[in-house]
Amino acid sequence: MANIWLKKNIDQLVKEASSGEKSLKRSIGAMGLIALGIGAIIGAGLFTSTAEAIAFHTGPAVSLSFLIAGIGCALAGLCYAEFASMIPIAGSAYTYSYATMGEFIAWIIGWDLVLEYGVASAKVATSWSEYLNKLLGNVFHVQIPYQFSHSPFQSSAEGIQGIANLPALFIILVLSLVLIRGVKGSSLVNTIIVIIKVGIVLLFIGFGWTYINPANYTPYLPDNTTGASGEFGWTGIFAGAGVVFFAFIGFDAVSTAAQESKDPQRDMPKGILLSLLICVVLYILFAHVLAGVANYTEFRTVGQEASVTYVIDTYMKGYGWLSTLVTVAILAGFSSVILVMLMGQSRVFFSMSKDGLVPNVFSQLHPEFKTPWKSNQLFFVFVGLIAAFVPASVISDMTVIGTLFAFVLVCLGIIVLRKTNPAIPRPFRTPWVPVIPILGIVICSGLIYTLGPANWLRLILWLIIGVFIYLGYGMKNSKLQKES
Ligand code: ALA
Repeated sequence: MANIWLKKNIDQLVKEASSGEKSLKRSIGAMGLIALGIGAIIGAGLFTSTAEAIAFHTGPAVSLSFLIAGIGCALAGLCYAEFASMIPIAGSAYTYSYATMGEFIAWIIGWDLVLEYGVASAKVATSWSEYLNKLLGNVFHVQIPYQFSHSPFQSSAEGIQGIANLPALFIILVLSLVLIRGVKGSSLVNTIIVIIKVGIVLLFIGFGWTYINPANYTPYLPDNTTGASGEFGWTGIFAGAGVVFFAFIGFDAVSTAAQESKDPQRDMPKGILLSLLICVVLYILFAHVLAGVANYTEFRTVGQEASVTYVIDTYMKGYGWLSTLVTVAILAGFSSVILVMLMGQSRVFFSMSKDGLVPNVFSQLHPEFKTPWKSNQLFFVFVGLIAAFVPASVISDMTVIGTLFAFVLVCLGIIVLRKTNPAIPRPFRTPWVPVIPILGIVICSGLIYTLGPANWLRLILWLIIGVFIYLGYGMKNSKLQKES
């Protein structure tokens, strides 16, 4: 009879990571990890979800939502950092929970991370499509027709029905091919993209600041007049935090690169925490400017798509060049997010496959490129279909709820492991345990609550499917089960 609570031995985990034919190359330093983090973090969340939160939940007070979401992430980030320094192995939260809470919970996390990494890439791809259309319109005066740049569940103000989001599918294809070819040479590309991305955020903050119309900040926090929870007022701030949480997702992707880090013990906590901190500060300033230049009601209508470009084109006269530059940079920036997310996804399934919980195909390396190419192909199909056919807001909420759930389990894991394995060397220790992890659990659970019943149901359904797959496949093929 299988024991679904079997745990991996941590010492053995570390040993496995450094040996074996399937081990990955250690080539990333601290700066590289921070760049990887920022590369994954700044993306669609900032450039599209901010406007969504302003329009429907917070009004100009959106910076408060960023603050709350940032605090939740920082608390979870401190827990991630302890795990990542202690168990520096590809696979992130999945691997941590295998060593702390046993195989079944590990499976649930690994399965749940598909929502975070795989599904997030789809959302960013849909935002990529929005900004591409804006660029084509502004520079070349052509547009991809509405029906071929939106999902079948969306329709335009003129009543045109979407068919498929082809640009979103296209970018997923291109980046999957890049991943198959290998991303070694692209670490430099990632760093350049990160510099450009941070640069345009700073430019927008700097130039935009002078265009802030103080009248747009009144009322700063619009009243909740409909009575529906989450629509402005204080409940809106929390609902907005659930929406903009998407903007922070990715800092934990740093931990999936643990096996490729030169000195994971020292560099993983730095990579995770510093990239997060830099983004919290940038986001709060950026959101404040965006909500100050245009009135929040505009983001419900004309300014809903490609909101940053809209704001510059409409209010910052003479900055047409900035609008084009921002759009190009955003397109490049989104590409780096998708790349890191897809890479994180294949890394997690790589680990799960080595453990026998998902088929071998997910850890087969390309004979020449040494990348998990078959996994990349399968995820191209999965992510591509979602990007083409599911509306962005649904994809975004699914990602957020999946990620929050993973964060809750990671925080819990820290408390469990301090009790069960107090003696393991912890190069980085989360401060004030159990207070920090408990606060992390409370905030992340609170944000899950704000996402509402439809999203809870989707998460539960996803997890139930996962349980069936585990019972039908993982439990029978688990290497750990066979060895015990
Ligand atoms: N945080 C990433 C983004 O906003 C996922 O695109």
